Amino acid sequence: MADSIFKKYLEKKNNLIKNRGILQATYVPEVLLHRDHQIGEIVDIIAPSLNKDKPSNILIIGQTGTGKTAVVNYVGHELEKADIESNNCRYIYVNCEVIDTPYSILYNISNQIITDPNKKIPFTGWSLEKIFNELAKYIDDEDRVFIIVLDEIDMSFKKNGDDIFYYLTTINEMLKKSRVSIIGITNNSTFAEKLLSPRIKSRLGEEKIIFPPYTPEQLIDILNNRIEYALYPDVIDNSVIPYCAAISAQGSGDARKALDLLRISADIAERNGDSIITSAHVDYARQKIELDAVVEVIKTLTEQSKIVLMSIIKTPSSNETGSVTTGDVYTTYIELSRNMGYNVLSQRMVANLISELDMLGIITARVKSFGRGGRTKEIDVNKVSNDVFFILSSDDIFRGVDFTFKPNKQTTLM
Ligand SMILES: Nc1ncnc2c1ncn2[C@@H]1O[C@H](COP(=O)(O)OP(=O)(O)OP(=O)(O)O)[C@@H](O)[C@H]1O
Ligand SMILES: [Mg+2]
Repeated sequence: MADSIFKKYLEKKNNLIKNRGILQATYVPEVLLHRDHQIGEIVDIIAPSLNKDKPSNILIIGQTGTGKTAVVNYVGHELEKADIESNNCRYIYVNCEVIDTPYSILYNISNQIITDPNKKIPFTGWSLEKIFNELAKYIDDEDRVFIIVLDEIDMSFKKNGDDIFYYLTTINEMLKKSRVSIIGITNNSTFAEKLLSPRIKSRLGEEKIIFPPYTPEQLIDILNNRIEYALYPDVIDNSVIPYCAAISAQGSGDARKALDLLRISADIAERNGDSIITSAHVDYARQKIELDAVVEVIKTLTEQSKIVLMSIIKTPSSNETGSVTTGDVYTTYIELSRNMGYNVLSQRMVANLISELDMLGIITARVKSFGRGGRTKEIDVNKVSNDVFFILSSDDIFRGVDFTFKPNKQTTLM
């Protein structure tokens, strides 16, 4: 009998990854390594809630991927388990990155408390004061201690200021029977130190817990612990875990990044039909992650910024380092935006957009002085410039645009 046309797929087994979900950032591991100290601190602070006493509010600060959300939710679940018989407390979690208006935060909390569908608070329409008073009533009726976690509080703050935290930290003044404690989480230490108003800082930060970045050795332990269940035995080169850990420790000791690197490396190796994951796969994975980040940033750019970025890419370099100057970019920009039928911005405005692209990390611009001639910038599109061009040129606004034009150095603004 002839071979199935699906032969190569039938024969190809998953021979590296046993359980991919375990390497996903959303997976909740059973043990959280190297966080005993922070877990212990939170437990000590919130334990009084088991006896219906109000714990202090807590402010948790630590960079991205340092285990803040994982640890707090772990402690929350353990609290619920310990409280199962006495039923003295409630653990409530709200992610303010997703739920970011004061109304939606209160609405979300109320939804977790009010179970009777006839009494639910409407999704919109009430004043903040009304929803707050109603919520306080329901909380008080429960006659319990509420631990309310507000994760990523800087996100809500950026859009709406800190009134909501003020509301929630003063709610106890309205309560007779129940008590509310707040655990605020942020990965922005400047926010915690400088932006949060003193009245909130002192209320929210009754206790402060810092999550330091993971060291490379700690990241190695975290990854090793995961691969035991996620990968088949002996499918990973010895260098891979230390390499993923070293890369992820460089920036901020980020466990999420380390796990992403490992998962994407494993995916690449498996798709390639390779029998072992090596550090070369990690290099590919790293490029893929960087590129995905660039794609995300490019999506958010305004049309003028996209044209400026394209102008930078399309400006020929006149030196051996491959960089270009603001003036050269502007010449290209004039040509390109005219070709495309767009308004031509002033050189100063284009220079501002270049600075913005620099801050977003898509390009690197260095100020270079030219003596009396004033200042100019030397600009490098980073190492992914070919990819940036590829991503950018598939954008709608560049459809049908001819990129073979030669910027004319003589062009001036009319
Ligand atoms: N100590 C640890 N042991 C095992 N896994 C961990 C540990 N710390 C973090 N992780 C894992 O790393 C990922 C990121 O952790 P988490 O989401 O808790 O970070 P975070 O500090 O809340 O970051 P962000 O500020 O970006 O929200 C998760 O998948 C989590 O399971
Ligand atoms: Mg988090």
